[in-house]
Formats: sequence, C-alpha cells, structure tokens
Amino acid sequence: MAFPESFLQELADRNDIADVVGSYVRLTKRSGANLFGLCPFHSEKTPSFSVSPDKQIYHCFGCGKGGSVINFIMEIENLSFPDAVEFLARRCGMELPDEKEDEGRKKRERLLSLNRDAARFFHEKLKEPGGAVAREYIAKRGLSPTVVKNFGLGFAPESWYELTNAMKAKGYTDFELVNAGLANSNKSGKGVHDIFRSRLMFPIIDVRGNVLGFSGRILGDGEPKYLNTRETPVFNKSRNLFALNLAKKSKNGYILLAEGNIDVVSLHQSGFDSAVASLGTSLTPEQARLISRYANEVVIAYDNDAAGQKAAQRAIGILENLDLKVKVLRMSGAKDPDEFIKLKGADAFKNLLEQSENHVEYRLQSAMSKYNLSIDEEKVAALKDAVNIIASLPNAVEREVYSMRVAEKCSVSKDVVIGEVVRARKKKIYYTKMQQEKELLRSTNSSRAKNKAVSYENPRSALAEEGVIRLLYLDSGLFSGVEISPEDFSSPLLGRFFEILKEKTDAHLPLSMASLSANFSPEETDHLTGILQKPEVLSKGQQALGDYINIIKTEKQSAFAEDDLRAYAQMRNKKEKGYGGQNGC
Ligand code: GTP
Ligand code: MN
Repeated sequence: MAFPESFLQELADRNDIADVVGSYVRLTKRSGANLFGLCPFHSEKTPSFSVSPDKQIYHCFGCGKGGSVINFIMEIENLSFPDAVEFLARRCGMELPDEKEDEGRKKRERLLSLNRDAARFFHEKLKEPGGAVAREYIAKRGLSPTVVKNFGLGFAPESWYELTNAMKAKGYTDFELVNAGLANSNKSGKGVHDIFRSRLMFPIIDVRGNVLGFSGRILGDGEPKYLNTRETPVFNKSRNLFALNLAKKSKNGYILLAEGNIDVVSLHQSGFDSAVASLGTSLTPEQARLISRYANEVVIAYDNDAAGQKAAQRAIGILENLDLKVKVLRMSGAKDPDEFIKLKGADAFKNLLEQSENHVEYRLQSAMSKYNLSIDEEKVAALKDAVNIIASLPNAVEREVYSMRVAEKCSVSKDVVIGEVVRARKKKIYYTKMQQEKELLRSTNSSRAKNKAVSYENPRSALAEEGVIRLLYLDSGLFSGVEISPEDFSSPLLGRFFEILKEKTDAHLPLSMASLSANFSPEETDHLTGILQKPEVLSKGQQALGDYINIIKTEKQSAFAEDDLRAYAQMRNKKEKGYGGQNGC
C-alpha cells in the first residue's frame, strides 16, 4: 500500500480505537483493561466484543473478528483499505499524502472499468443474432424490455473466448480478466478462457453505480443454476445486495427482501421498486447494515418453502439487531414472489404487502399453526412454543402484549402465560451464559488433552485450519480463489498438509489419504484422518471456507494474549456470581 508507515501511525494515534468504535457500539468498562459491548458483526444478546485501548485493537470472542481501527472501519463502513484510511483521515482532519493515487486504487479502478465494459459486452450480445436463445428465455420468463434495460441484463455467449478476446482488444490483460473473476487460466498454462458461457447475466451494481460482479443464470435447467463472480478485490457477495442501486431510489420507505434475482427483477417490473436480493447467501449482518442506510423497515418476501422460512427466521434476528422494523410476507399458492405475481397479479401482491405481519406475529402464527388448539395436549405444546418465542423478545411491553394475545387465543389466563414467560426467560439467559462460558473454555484449552501426538499452539486457528483442509480435501474445486498460504497456518502439520494438497490439485493429481500419507508419520496420519472424517456440509463449502480463512487470518493478526482471555473470563465470572473483580467487591 502506498501510504507511508509514518502517516498510518499518525492516523492511528489520532483516531483512538475506543472513540471510533464507541461511536458505533455502546462500550462499557468492566474488570481488566478492556471495554466490552455487543458485537456489531454478529447477532448476540450478551457482550463478547472487546476493545483494548492499550493495544489499540478490537476482538470479538464470539465471531472472531478483530483488528486495528482501520480494519474496524473497513468492516463496519464496508470500505476498502484506502477508503477506510481516507475516512479516518477526514474524521481527524488529516491531509492525505500526495501519493494517494496509490496502486491499489488504480488497480481497483481498472477492474471496475473492466467489469463495466464486460457488462456492456453482455448487454450488446443480447441484441445480436446469437442472443436469440437468451431473448427467448427472457420472453418465457415474462421479463419486459424496460427491466432488461434498467437492470442491464445481458447474455454470455456460448463461447470460451468471446468475452476474453473482446476485452483484450480493449487493452485489458489476462491477469486483469482473471483478477476480475471473468476468466480462468487455461490448463496448458497459456492464456485464459471465459468463465461465464451461455448464461443470462445479471450485473451486480453497488450504490455508487460500479459494476462489482455478475450473477449468471443458466438458460433453462441445469447445474449450477446460478454462477456468481467469485470473491475479487472489488466483489464480496456477503457485503452487497442485488439491485440495491435501484432500490435505494425507491420512495417506499421500506426494502423488500427477496431470495432470487428473478424475483427481484419481476417485482420491479410490477412496480415494487424497493426489492433487493442477498446474492444467494442468507442475509449477512453487513448486508443488513447496508439496508439500514436506506430504509428503516424491511419486508421479507422469501420463498415459500422450508428453506425460505428458515432463512426468514435468521434474517429477522439480524435485522432486529439493527433496530430495523421487520415484517414478513406470507404467501400461499406460489413458490416465490415471481410465481405469485405471474399467477395472481401485482394487485394481489400489493394486498399481501399490506397484510404482512410484524415478525413476532409471524413467528407466533407459524409456530402455533402446527397445532390443533381444540386438543388439550396440542394446546399445551402450542403454548410452550409460543412462550419460548415471547421469552426471547427484548422488550417487556412486547412480552406482555403478546402473552395476552396468546392467552386469549388458547383461552387460558394471562397470568399463567406471563409466569411461564418469566420462567423461560430466566432459563434462556442462564443457558446462553453457560454456552458462552463453554465456548470460551473450549477455545482456550481445547484439544489440549485430546491428542498427545499432535498438539496445537493456537486451538482456535487450528480448528479453522482443520476445516480448511477438510473442505479442500473433499472438494478440490474450492481451491480456485483461495487466498491463504501454508505460512498462514498456525499448525505446521496442517500447513504442510495444505501445501501438499495444493501441489497435487495444481498438478491435477487425484487426492486420496492413501497417496498423501507417504508424507506423514503414522501419528500424523491418524490425526489427519481424524480431521478428514468429521462431517462437513459441502453445499455451503465456499461460505464455510471463507469463514475458516477469516478466522485463521484474524487469529494470525490478533495480538490478543492469554491475559485478555483471562480478563474476559473474570469479567463473566463477576457478572454472573458477583465476584472475581480486582477491587475486592
Ligand atoms: P428461478 O428459479 O429461475 O426463478 O430463479 P431464482 O432467481 O428465483 O433462484 P432460486 O430461488 O432458485 O435461488 C435464489 C437465489 O439463490 C438465486 O437468485 C441465486 O442468487 C442463488 N442460487 C440459486 N441457485 C444457485 C446455485 O446453483 N449457485 C449459486 N452460487 N447460487 C445459487
Ligand atoms: Mn426462486
């Protein structure tokens, strides 16, 4: 990075981490040197996010995020490194050094311009004779010329080189094409080829109008249905939302959150111009924060299947954490908003919107509809589920109101419901604390006794390292775009294993523990096999891999010493049992 070391040092000196973080998170002083608050990067009810004014770092014991004041701004404001530096310089009135036109920025600008040119190329291809197949698909899905234009939809031709050649003719290099996630290197090692072929292309555009990447849908049936741009220096799918560039201009005052790209396009076409989608991942805290800049209400319109309902429950928690008003739309007779509008029309959807329930009603309704309330046993079970939901509401008035409503519905006295809610709440709080304690203990001294042949210096990182090698061993396809090297591993054994996996994959050699074990002692092999046999959900491989790598990198950076962990544990102890402080209280 082109910022001089001395400039960054002064920047950090003039932006005290406790001040900066304190303007986003309410921090309170506990025992020890650290401040604690609710983590802004994951959903939680008791504080595990800590700031060390001494070391000028932050660290979350829950989700593992941490770093310097610059990292914090990058994370919370969704900015690149140079942009975060600029943000902090402005905050403390510092002049940026002259060489601000740094290389990183120039490179990113080149990638954005390449993406823009690629989007134009795809859009033009839609109009050419070769684009007939895509035009037919668009017609079949009932998408109008207006939305095709407004969304800048396009067609990636059935070719391995058309995009690549067109972009090279404009002066972009092979390296830039690969870096933008538009091309892959040929196996021969010479030249590159197009990644997106024969797909309907949805450009993903940020709120400033930059084309960050693409989502390409297969024309018809086949796998994978969608291909998204992999992680690049300008694209991170968990930090962006499809169509927010358009939705931010809506006058609705709420954001309509759908699952599918097609749903979003179709909703805009029918006049619901505040629809966005979360790019195939379930909603992330970063995405929720992005939404909160443009609206204070979100209506969730996810697919009408079990997965969609589950994702809705998760999204509710994340959105609520940001004080966003959350409603959930209940659809019946159609699998998603697109199908609903096609079958029943835009007016019917508008009715649904008007009837959408606030999330508590939605959750109570979903839980209780499973039971037949005229049968006593089922009524008891329904009450139990309802009480659990109510007990998790942070607001006492809400708890009272919904307790009354549930009591009425089940024809029992309201005092009984309220009493049960209080009990469930106590249990819940106790249970959460226990879980956190356990989690903490596990991360501090896990596997110490488990395996004598192999011990880990940093168990938290090592667990993530285990995850990385497990995933890559199971699916070497995940290697593309993996930004980690053996030196990043805290465990030399796992690092060595990773290196060998990578060499073999690069050489297109098959992976099997049998062929790999020649490189390891029997004890090591036992240990590695133990790791590989643990379950891993491959369908979420990419995401899990990203999470593991994040943990490994933060662990590597994090200068948090054991005494901070101890201070944290002490703080917990004190809070729960009333002792453990240093002041003799
Ligand atoms: P239609 O079924 O054509 O209406 O598409 P849809 O846009 O409604 O997609 P669907 O409901 O199946 O999936 C919702 C979202 O999940 C999509 O818009 C994609 O962002 C993502 N998604 C779906 N299938 C895949 C896939 O195979 N790979 C990836 N990476 N993402 C997918
Ligand atoms: Mn869908």
